[in-house]
Amino acid sequence: MSQLNKFKRYTITSALPYANGPLHIGHLAGAYLPADIFVRYLRLKKKDVVYICGSDEHGAAITIKAKKEDTTPQAIIDKYHNQIKNSFEEFGIAFDIYHRTSSAIHHDLSQEFFLNLYEKDEFIEKYSEQYFDEDYDQFLADRYITGTCPNCGFDKAYGDQCENCGASLNPTDLINPVSTLSGKAPVLRPTKHWYLPLDKYQPWLEKWIDEKEGEWKVNVFGQCRSWLKSGLQPRSMTRDLDWGIDVPLDEAKGKKLYVWMDAPIGYISATKQWAIDNDKDWKQYWKTQENPADDTCLIHFIGKDNIVFHCIIFPAILKAHGGYVLPQNVPANEFLNLEGEKLSTSRNHAVWLHEYLEEFPGKQDELRYVLTSILPETSDSEFTWKDYQARVNNELVAILGNYVNRVMILMHKFYEGKVEASGESIELNDNLLNAQIGQFYDELEQNLEAYKFRQALQNVMDIARLGNKYLTEKEPWKTIKTNPDDAREALHNCLCIIAHLATCLQPFLPRTAAKIFAMLNVEPIGFADDIKFANGHQLNAAALLFEKVEDEVIEAQIQKLLDKKQAVVATKETPIIPAKENISYESFAAMDIRTGTILAAEKVAKTKKLLKLTIDTGIDQRTVVSGIAEYYEPDAIIGKQVSILVNLEPREIKGILSQGMILMAEDSEGKLSFVSPVDALHNGSVVR
Ligand code: MF3
Ligand code: ZN
Repeated sequence: MSQLNKFKRYTITSALPYANGPLHIGHLAGAYLPADIFVRYLRLKKKDVVYICGSDEHGAAITIKAKKEDTTPQAIIDKYHNQIKNSFEEFGIAFDIYHRTSSAIHHDLSQEFFLNLYEKDEFIEKYSEQYFDEDYDQFLADRYITGTCPNCGFDKAYGDQCENCGASLNPTDLINPVSTLSGKAPVLRPTKHWYLPLDKYQPWLEKWIDEKEGEWKVNVFGQCRSWLKSGLQPRSMTRDLDWGIDVPLDEAKGKKLYVWMDAPIGYISATKQWAIDNDKDWKQYWKTQENPADDTCLIHFIGKDNIVFHCIIFPAILKAHGGYVLPQNVPANEFLNLEGEKLSTSRNHAVWLHEYLEEFPGKQDELRYVLTSILPETSDSEFTWKDYQARVNNELVAILGNYVNRVMILMHKFYEGKVEASGESIELNDNLLNAQIGQFYDELEQNLEAYKFRQALQNVMDIARLGNKYLTEKEPWKTIKTNPDDAREALHNCLCIIAHLATCLQPFLPRTAAKIFAMLNVEPIGFADDIKFANGHQLNAAALLFEKVEDEVIEAQIQKLLDKKQAVVATKETPIIPAKENISYESFAAMDIRTGTILAAEKVAKTKKLLKLTIDTGIDQRTVVSGIAEYYEPDAIIGKQVSILVNLEPREIKGILSQGMILMAEDSEGKLSFVSPVDALHNGSVVR
């Protein structure tokens, strides 16, 4: 192992998922599959490794969900903790422990951390003005406030972060803040909080992160640098909330720890629980005093939205406390998209793991394979069902499954599944094959250690490709008659290639690897172990590894995604804009609204949003400039019938005289739709 080799033990974590909903493929592809592959690899190398995860059960993510489902936060975390845990198990994510931040051991440790910092005077105590919802009589968590991002202008930014540009925000940064509880503008009230002076840690962080250049992924390193460049601010480690871990100070009654203070400590408390259960010493995996420097390698696998918390805030907390190892690496992934759109829980645009498990029973490795092939390692990537089908059919079935199956069938057909050697055992007896496979192993290990899991999976598939090629060239089904010794040797070599395949597949497709070992009738093999079969070794019956995915199955999944979206649109509770003041009938009647048809449409140069439309209003043909370019392609709307306010004062927009206004409906997410007559009417028909 390259630079990873110097460590005595490895503490590997995957981001603790919020227990506020089921898992989808984006979760797997972000922080779990890569970590699982990495951990399984370390275990195959017989390294001392502990793999930690658990549910993140505090914070507004939980209380918002409880409010939505009209139940208690406790009911939410119990429900989803179990569901999430089960999905991870089914997909073979091999945590040593899947813990919970609601546990007593975690509450204790988090409070201990807070008090440690408090007693060392690490916090700045500050009164600040914080948003308060007067209707609901409570302070508002960052996530309960939305408004316009001062950085990019996105109008659905949260109080702590803009999901459009990624900026980290304070609620008071938002332009036009709105409480998501009452839908009204919140008011500011003074409250006391305890701040971690990140600015004080800035020089130390800069030095520490600078040393990671070239070692950390470019996307991670770049984000850290830009955070540091914009200057770190003190960050409050306490919140006015009624769900979470109590701040352990008398004067802080009713206040809770900030969820991003307690959650990462969850990695440590989970390790403590694991150590208790398994008679280990947790300190060895976390504390520097227990280890000569550099003995423990801590690696956090996360999604890109968690970078600042794992690379800046948590390290600062660990540093402030002292005595803890810092992350060696934080190989964050980018995002996975689905069928051309962002994955979205609120729009139900996702492939949910629990649903996949029901609809594709026993096909966990198929999904692991496809997701590993498209992991968003260096940029966002995309899952489509057609691609899933193609990869399963053309790669798993046609290359991997086919190879193993052909060899097994021939071994049974010619030798009743028995290895018969002239010596004690057989091993791969072909210099060229040995050299090639050796090279695949080298590349595989290099890629795994560089967190290049997509490429690593290709290295494994190359072994199957090599096997297919060799088998086809050797044609043992022909030589069995002309040169039986040749045929036997070729098939024995093929068998050894299968054993290599199964060995290398273990980190990626654990169930498939186990099936192959079972067929071979051998115990799982580690990376450094010899591959040989004893004379007289009996193979088990051949079993198919993968089934072809039919078109209907894929079409049904695509349709399901469309149906879900429709259902969401139909039932969605959207924050409805309050009604305006009443107006007289005369005011309404003063508006001359007609039906018209779009005759021509083109983009207005140097603008993102504007289309120049030519409309047949029945009265005349006129030009209207409309801000719909982000939603409609010019070509797609020609011939559409729309409603147009024809007596609006003409206005010049970008040098074009716009005569009237097209009526549009806008939903709470800013999506626009034409307001069109349901039945075709003459242009110029009056709307009233
Ligand atoms: N629950 C957070 C999320 O889903 C991740 C927490 S990671 C931890 O974004 F380090 F805080 F545990
Ligand atoms: Zn923004």
